[in-house]
Amino acid sequence: MAYENILVEKKGHVAVVTVDRPKVLNALSSPTLEEIGAAFREIGRDDSVRAVILTGAGEKAFVAGADIKEMQSMGVEEARRYSYLGIQAMWEIRLCPKPVIAAVNGFALGGGLELALSCDFIYASEKAKLGQPEVGLGVTPGFGATQKLPRLIGAARAKELLFTGDMIGAAEAKELGLVNKVFPPEALMVEAVKAAEKMASKGAFAVAQAKRAVDAGLDMSLDAALLFESQVFGACFGTEDQKEGMAAFLEKRKPNFKGAE
Ligand code: CAA
Repeated sequence: MAYENILVEKKGHVAVVTVDRPKVLNALSSPTLEEIGAAFREIGRDDSVRAVILTGAGEKAFVAGADIKEMQSMGVEEARRYSYLGIQAMWEIRLCPKPVIAAVNGFALGGGLELALSCDFIYASEKAKLGQPEVGLGVTPGFGATQKLPRLIGAARAKELLFTGDMIGAAEAKELGLVNKVFPPEALMVEAVKAAEKMASKGAFAVAQAKRAVDAGLDMSLDAALLFESQVFGACFGTEDQKEGMAAFLEKRKPNFKGAE
């Protein structure tokens, strides 16, 4: 599919999705959200892709939020539909059976931070600024932050960010557990690609199932989640990857995984 607001590039087994509206700091217009959802659906089905990096075009921003120009004149029902569209696009990232790293290269604000939160983890540039400034516009977040942020960093810390609208730097975001690693700007993509290639070299079915087990398990009781993990573990033993991975270990060689989920 041809896209106008995002770029999708593949290098080996790694796909890089770039939100590409640098003039408006990559703000998430409706067509941009549609394209992000479609791209992750497509990537989910593409067996040649085993890991994904999501980033923003230009030097300044990952994504500076939902598109304020588009939202300004919305009524209640239109705003609800726009929120559903954002949540759907981000749901596609969660459902995508490949690991997705958010490479936050600058501002990740409002819907931009929500987009990063829908990835599996965040790497950030030392220049990154993260926050949920929506209350300063007289609205709440609408693409998931009131739910995902407290689950990730705890309710009290999430409330402080949500109620003040403050932007925080990458180091503080790492301290909060919002960001996994921080790099100098020029090293961010290099390190994200390294991590993506490492994950792409593992058993794809196992990585996909580990993603599902974590995401689904967080919404279950611990007992139910542990039973779910046993099911997932068992399912791995029906794959060629398990046979290859364990044979390679015992034969003291590198495994040659087939890659499909
Ligand atoms: N939507 C639409 N346009 C945006 C935008 C956004 N979220 N963020 C920036 N832009 C546009 C600006 O309007 C400006 O366009 P013009 O050149 O046509 O004037 C261009 O991008 C460059 O931005 P600035 O001139 O403002 O750049 P700056 O360096 O002075 O400031 C900034 C950078 C602090 C990130 C500032 O742009 C800003 O505060 N942006 C808005 C951040 C925000 O409030 N995000 C939350 C949006 S609401 C939301 O996301 C709701 C939700 O959860 C669904």
